Formats: sequence, C-alpha cells, structure tokens
Amino acid sequence: MQNSLINCSDSHMRRCFELAMGGDGLVSPNPLVGALLVKNGKIIGEGFHVESGQHHAEVNTINSVKGSIEGSTLYCNLEPCCHTNKRTPPCTDLIISRGISRVVISNLDPNPLVSGRGVERLRQAGIEVSVGLLEEKGHLLNEVFFKYITTKRPFVHLKVAQTIDGRIATSSGHSKWITNQSSRARVHQLRAKYDAICVGRETLNLDNPQLTVRLDPPYRGKAPYRVILGNPNKMNLDSRVFNDSLADRTIVACSDVELSKLNLTARNLLESRNVKFIEIDETRKGKIDWAKLIARLGECMITSLFIEGGSGIYSDLISNRLVDRLSIFIAPKVFGSGKNWLQYTDIDRVEDSIGFMIEDVKTFDQQILVEMLPLNKE
Ligand SMILES: NC(=O)c1ccc[n+]([C@@H]2O[C@H](COP(=O)([O-])OP(=O)(O)OC[C@H]3O[C@@H](n4cnc5c(N)ncnc54)[C@H](OP(=O)(O)O)[C@@H]3O)[C@@H](O)[C@H]2O)c1
Repeated sequence: MQNSLINCSDSHMRRCFELAMGGDGLVSPNPLVGALLVKNGKIIGEGFHVESGQHHAEVNTINSVKGSIEGSTLYCNLEPCCHTNKRTPPCTDLIISRGISRVVISNLDPNPLVSGRGVERLRQAGIEVSVGLLEEKGHLLNEVFFKYITTKRPFVHLKVAQTIDGRIATSSGHSKWITNQSSRARVHQLRAKYDAICVGRETLNLDNPQLTVRLDPPYRGKAPYRVILGNPNKMNLDSRVFNDSLADRTIVACSDVELSKLNLTARNLLESRNVKFIEIDETRKGKIDWAKLIARLGECMITSLFIEGGSGIYSDLISNRLVDRLSIFIAPKVFGSGKNWLQYTDIDRVEDSIGFMIEDVKTFDQQILVEMLPLNKE
C-alpha cells in the first residue's frame, strides 16, 4: 500500500515535469513549472506556466477545475511563490483561499524572494507540505533557472556537430553539412530553448549562418539573440545576421580596443541595423575574458547561452570550465584531417583531464547524440 502511494506520487510529479515542458523556451527568465490537483485519488485539474508575465502554473491548474477543489492535493514541481514584487499575485494566497489541504513540491524556489518562505506560509495556514519528491529530476528540468537565479550568469550549453574522428570541418574549413537533416532539426529545437546563441567570428565569415529558430508554433517567432564574438573589423558585414529582419537581435561581443578601431562607416552601418555591441576590456591581444562576457550577458537578462562553435570558442570555454551542458552530435563519417572540435586546452597529464558524466545517448536516423554534464563543476 505504502509503495503504491509513493509510486502514485512519483507519477503525479513526473506528469508535472511533462506539463512544465509546455513552457520550454517561452518562460525565460522564469522557471518551467507544471502542476496538477488530485482529489479522491483522481486528477481533477492540470496546468503549466505558459509564458513569462502570464499566470503561474498553480493558477492555471486551479482555474482548470470547474467544481470545488477543497481538500485536494496540489502537486507542483516548484515551491509556490509568496511575494508581491511581480505582475501576478502570490500563488500561496490562492492555494490557501481555495481550501487545498496538501501540497507536494519537488524543489524549493532558490529565488531569494521565495526560498522556503512559500512553504512556510502554506504550513502556517495549516496546509501539509512535502518537499523533495524527485528533487534531482526537478533540478535538471530547471537547470537554466537554477543557475541564473543563484549566480546571475547564463547557463552555458555547448553543442558540437562532429565526425567520428572528432572533426568539425575539413582542412579547407568546409563544414556544411557534417550531420544530417534529423540532427539539424534537433538543433533548431535546442536553439528554441535558449535566450542567446553564440558563434565565433571565423564561423560567421566561413559559414554565414542564420542562427534562427526555424520551427512551427509555439516557437514560430522565437528569436534568440545572436552573439558574434571577435574583432568587428574582421567580420563580414554582408553576413545574414547583420542584414536579415532580426538584425536588431544580433550582438557583437568584442574587446574595447578592437571596437575603438572600428571605422565609422562600419559602425554606422551596424548601428543603422540596430546591431548591439558588448565591449569588454581586452585581456590579451584582441581577446576578452569569457567569464566577464558571461557576466555581462547575465546583466542583460540573458539567462541561457547556446554555443555553436567553432573550435576557438569551444576550446576557451572547455579550458575555463565554463560549460554547464555538452551535446555532441556525431555523424558516422570521417574526414581524416581537418579541424578538431577542440584546438587547445591546458591539459598535460591524464589525471588533469576534464571529466563529463554521460546523461543520455540517443541514436536516430544514423546519427548519435551524446548529452553530457561536467563533473566536479564548482
Ligand atoms: N561542426 C560544427 O559543430 C561547427 C560549428 C561551428 C563552426 N564550425 C566550423 O569551425 C570552423 C571555425 O572555427 P574556428 O575555431 O576557426 O573559429 P571560431 O571559433 O568560429 O572563431 C574564432 C574567432 O573567434 C574570436 N574569438 C574567440 N575567442 C575569443 C575571445 N576570447 N575574445 C575575443 N574573440 C574571440 C576570434 O575572432 P577574431 O580573430 O576576429 O579576433 C577568433 O579568431 C569553421 O570551419 C566552421 O565551419 C563547425
């Protein structure tokens, strides 16, 4: 009996995670939250946070029920909010006023404005609250939110498309396409989750990528910022990211020294297209410190960053242990020579290697996708 109760709770929480994913890519800077109401052993209502600025999951769930919800149990993957410092009223007040008798939560909200206070408020009102059901899975679901809310730095997800011999381009720099259409469709789904996509100046000039999300609703119209890192004097100004209808979503990130050398014509041209600039003080010739850039992007409310290469960018981020998630798409082909996905690192000894934990391996349409998380990340 006890076991079946636990399994039932587990499946309710898993359903909350599933519901929460309905807001994936649409709720930033908010968390992904799903909720459901159970009364007399039956699910009587469900809901999720659909878009930032709109109702929270608890409100949508409560509103989805026509009859009384008194005495019901609310399952919710994140602690209900209790603060008034936002556009929507506190969910704890609604839960209390509608006579819900029990609340089951996966994660406490690390937002300092909530952080245990929501649970406290519910308990003070006589509601039974359990915290920590499938906590790790809940944390993974909201990896972006948890990182941003606790550090004010964007979550960094690095994606590589490589051959089985680890090449991301041939020796002439040709890389279109290493992986097939099925992999590229998945990349569009990944892009849709993120606030910004980043590539290096070489990739811009060689590949002229669009860096857009080309998907059906609800993602149609979703336009992550496109961060181009490098010397603006060397960037091809005819590139699509500076000339398409989303040019105002393009950010050139460069050293203060290189930006000061940008000729007026180029600067006027980019500014006329509303291209933004982020300048960071130069650390070594033309190069900026990634940690500073990440912090600056966080200040711009960019909560997540999807890195699409090339090897210069990958090498810096891996060497500096700044990667939060790594996705490697592998196509079953070899180039023999060509560009490795990592150009350099600071590793001399095996015991100093940078370790990852394999989270998932998928095979589909003759492609392999390996999802990894860094080990021992501070
Ligand atoms: N298969 C894949 O997944 C994939 C993905 C992307 C790219 N690619 C391929 O990879 C190749 C390009 O890779 P790449 O390594 O040559 O170049 P890259 O990483 O795209 O760009 C390197 C440039 O980025 C800028 N940069 C890097 N770190 C910087 C820092 N800390 N501060 C300021 N600027 C910085 C520098 O630009 P400046 O020189 O202007 O200072 C540097 O030369 C292309 O062949 C492309 O097709 C493959």
